[in-house]
Amino acid sequence: MPQKPIYQDATRPVAERVEDLLGRMTLEEKVGQMCQLDGNREPEKWLTEGHVGSFLHVLGQITNDLQKLAEQSRLGIPLIFGIDAIHGHAFWPTATVFPTQLALSCSWNPDLVEEVGRVTAKEASYTGAHWTFSPVLGTVRDLRWGRVDETFGEDPYLVGALGSALVRGYQGDDLADRHTILACAKHYAGYPGTQGGRDAAEADLSERKMRSLYLKPFHEAVVAGCATLMAGYQAIDGVPCSANRWLLWDVLRDEWGFEGFVVSDWNNIGWMHTLQKTCATMGEAVKRAVEAGNDMAMSTPEFIETAVQLVQSGKLDVKHIDQACRRILGLKFELGLFDGNRYADLEAGGGVIGCAEHRAAALESAYQSIVLLKNEGGLLPLGDDLQRMAVIGPNADDVKAQLGDWVSWYARGDADGSARPRESIVTVLDGVRRRAGAACQVDYDRGCAVADPDDETIDQAVELARGADVAVVVVGDDTTLNGEARDRADLDLSGAQQRLLEAVHATGTPTVVVLINGKPLSIPWVAEHAQAIVEAWNPGLEGGTAVAGILFGDRNPSGKLSISFPYHVGQQPVTYDQIPGWHGGKYVDMPREPLYAFGYGLSYTTFAYSKLKVLTEALAAGEPLRVEVDVENSGGRAGTEIVQLYVNDVYSSVTTPLKELKAFQRVDLAPGEKKTVRMEVPYERLALVNQDMETVVEPGEFEVMVGGSSRDEDLLKGKFEVK
Ligand code: BGC
Repeated sequence: MPQKPIYQDATRPVAERVEDLLGRMTLEEKVGQMCQLDGNREPEKWLTEGHVGSFLHVLGQITNDLQKLAEQSRLGIPLIFGIDAIHGHAFWPTATVFPTQLALSCSWNPDLVEEVGRVTAKEASYTGAHWTFSPVLGTVRDLRWGRVDETFGEDPYLVGALGSALVRGYQGDDLADRHTILACAKHYAGYPGTQGGRDAAEADLSERKMRSLYLKPFHEAVVAGCATLMAGYQAIDGVPCSANRWLLWDVLRDEWGFEGFVVSDWNNIGWMHTLQKTCATMGEAVKRAVEAGNDMAMSTPEFIETAVQLVQSGKLDVKHIDQACRRILGLKFELGLFDGNRYADLEAGGGVIGCAEHRAAALESAYQSIVLLKNEGGLLPLGDDLQRMAVIGPNADDVKAQLGDWVSWYARGDADGSARPRESIVTVLDGVRRRAGAACQVDYDRGCAVADPDDETIDQAVELARGADVAVVVVGDDTTLNGEARDRADLDLSGAQQRLLEAVHATGTPTVVVLINGKPLSIPWVAEHAQAIVEAWNPGLEGGTAVAGILFGDRNPSGKLSISFPYHVGQQPVTYDQIPGWHGGKYVDMPREPLYAFGYGLSYTTFAYSKLKVLTEALAAGEPLRVEVDVENSGGRAGTEIVQLYVNDVYSSVTTPLKELKAFQRVDLAPGEKKTVRMEVPYERLALVNQDMETVVEPGEFEVMVGGSSRDEDLLKGKFEVK
């Protein structure tokens, strides 16, 4: 009997299988492996003629058909299918849709985020996907940027902690497990730092800013084993990320030892020639990208012919092609793709995708994501004795606004959203109706549209509010106002929403404003006039159940902002980690502080902090900072407090923020219960990036601050010294 080739032998080590296969491949076949194309555009042709090794944006039966075709090719190299499973496997119409990353980040709960990743991977795996383009690890600075909803907020430490949790959730302990998928940390790096919040435009970022702000979360993800990275669209200081050797090679490979592969973003390589105009020809773009360390080109069909020609004409060393191929094939082997266990199995998936257990995880995620911003006079929780409620506002019953970006209607064939069953989504109106019960009349009017100021029924809505015991007004934004390539110059409430709120307020009916939105908006009027404000973000398909549960007090809110709210768009960046040195320290026409600060969030109970003890007042090199603080539930309900620890390096050789988050802990407390919370900060986390771009801890005086938000008034302060 003829012997199996080594690469087909599952008992051989991956490295051996890769080398064996590589040795059998033609140049065209190797280049094809480096190419990922849209599976909706003539995939069979590209697969047979171009030897393409990966497709994106297709799921289900078509992946099996293509996979069979790939298996029948000369070497039978399997395809790897990628998908944007961004907050749940939401392109699949019956899959569980979780709250967006920004929403989830307000839970400050890595375990929860890991669970979201696990569920997403499982659901995706049944539909033929092997790889998700997630998590987004950008650190937000400018709220005008369209993609704020996709991030974990403004703090690099929090982004890193949650990002690495999501990576662990997707990838599990073993990539060969049928229900794990590859993660892809994106968009590497500095993508939220583009000027004016303009998506994919130029970012003027120094190496110090890159190292102290933007690279950290990616490093965390790499340490957590993240298999792939996606290069950002933008240029940094003139150099497109896709051609940035420092980023893709020096830092990623040499410093961090990353062994997975890098995929470009959508036609990022082509755009170096056609959009950014940094390469006069496609040939130059492909050469620069490959040499800089891009292993796979997403959606650049010209890549194939161009790369082959470059090698054949001696302009591109084939060693770069071999290297990229090695990395890609290595992960295909590790996933078990060669060993036949990765077909879509829709029949088996039918009982799992969107199952009750996964919906429960979505509900729990929504509960933990919601942030109570204001609760004057204890209007919330609502009593069970209400006779009439008015639910008003454009986002009270709008499934698209509620689910947010990267949901099935962005995939082909679901342009009107009809593929996703309406009954699978609980809007705020649905949730309130169910929860309020038969004894309470719930009236609804949309009141106005999110964007069009003339599309309104404000008078009708106001009549409902006038006759109600309480008005719940659900406003915010929708995916016409946020998401990729949808940046805003104005962060005020759009359309006629402000007018609607003012008219409802004038009735004198107690009003709760619920925000369904992809990013913080500038809402000083709401902050002053609404009695209660509930920030729900894009809370996923169980969002309405969670909002109602919080409004009626079935759940005590625990979320804390992972991102600051501005008074006005002109305050950008209004992040909590401000650098000292501002003459005057404020605008003449605007406060210096945010409207709602990073870390802030209310509960139906109260928490009192006392007795901050710094256990390590003089740190020796390598020694962790250790502190203790007493946290007491001083109110009448059980609750969860998110205890935050910030550090200020008082005198440093370069400017450093007045405070930086260094640790956090979720603490459950019964009424009256007091716990001593112990927190530890590893020595290396106290480091800064000095003038020589070295990451070092500088000796001297430090301040440590512990409390329930980043605001000074919420923090107890202590001192320590680094020897
Ligand atoms: C986005 C990526 C996404 C890719 C594939 C790009 O336009 O920037 O985040 O993963 O498309 O859909």
